[in-house]
Amino acid sequence: MSHAALKLIAAGALAAGLPIAFATEDAHLDVSIVEGGCAACHAGHGASRSPMLPAPQREVCLSCHGSRGMADAQVGRRLLAPGARPPFLSSVLAQPFTHPLTAGAFSRREEGAVTCSSCHTPHRSTRMLSPDERGQRKLSTRDPTHFEFELCQSCHGSAGTAT
Ligand code: HEC
Ligand code: HEC
Ligand code: HEC
Ligand code: HEC
Repeated sequence: MSHAALKLIAAGALAAGLPIAFATEDAHLDVSIVEGGCAACHAGHGASRSPMLPAPQREVCLSCHGSRGMADAQVGRRLLAPGARPPFLSSVLAQPFTHPLTAGAFSRREEGAVTCSSCHTPHRSTRMLSPDERGQRKLSTRDPTHFEFELCQSCHGSAGTAT
């Protein structure tokens, strides 16, 4: 899909009141950082029944957040600005205690799926708290109007050993 076509979708999404924030609010939608714009994550019509994603979501996200090498490849494709600094997760994901992710899931809306967007929003940044804010309640990585524990409880429930 061309950039023009994606812009059209963006206009449509705005008209429909979809919660898509633009420019300054999220590095992902700032073309001075993510040069490819929408097409940095979305491609063509995407895989069948996916939210216009060319690959399972984990792979889409890790194309920039995997390692320096993977991000450099995205710079080569002119999807990512040379000076951009996506946090890299390769060493985090190599830990033995990572949160389970559903292999092959495109969307958090898939039945029973846990994927990146289960806990993050691709279109709206949620600011990480700075170290001097430790000890205070952390905000949800998906929705800054809620706390982190509410995000976890949205799947894990709140009472009893069973949850
Ligand atoms: C085209 C490259 C690219 C792709 C693909 C990408 N990101 Fe990012 N992401 C970045 C960059 C660059 C930053 C850091 C921006 C900055 O300097 O603040 C970032 C920052 C983040 C942050 C931390 C800052 C924040 O605003 O919360 C999270 C979380 C994040 N990305 C999640 C994701 C998820 C989830 C996906 C897949 C849906 C994804 N990213 C796909 C480039 C990318
Ligand atoms: C950093 C990666 C990334 C970028 C950049 C990005 N998207 Fe998305 N978008 C996603 C992911 C991932 C989903 C699927 C979320 C899910 O269903 O779990 C999605 C879903 C959507 C949806 C389906 C509705 C929804 O909110 O779930 C629309 C429409 C959409 N994106 C439009 C856009 C437009 C227009 C742009 C450019 C202005 C854009 N996206 C930029 C990752 C991205
Ligand atoms: C179960 C919820 C959950 C899932 C699933 C999840 N994350 Fe996160 N992620 C978090 C939380 C919570 C943090 C904040 C950690 C902290 O407090 O610093 C975070 C932090 C991040 C950061 C910022 C790291 C930094 O150094 O600033 C990035 C980037 C990120 N996640 C990307 C992803 C990507 C990409 C995926 C999918 C492969 C993913 N996350 C899946 C909950 C999740
Ligand atoms: C989208 C739903 C969802 C969200 C949101 C979520 N989880 Fe999970 N979590 C799961 C699923 C599904 C499992 C796997 C359960 C199983 O394998 O029996 C799991 C497993 C776990 C486990 C056990 C890991 C293991 O290896 O056995 C821990 C700990 C955990 N989650 C913590 C968290 C925390 C902390 C948060 C919030 C940052 C969170 N979860 C948010 C769905 C979720």
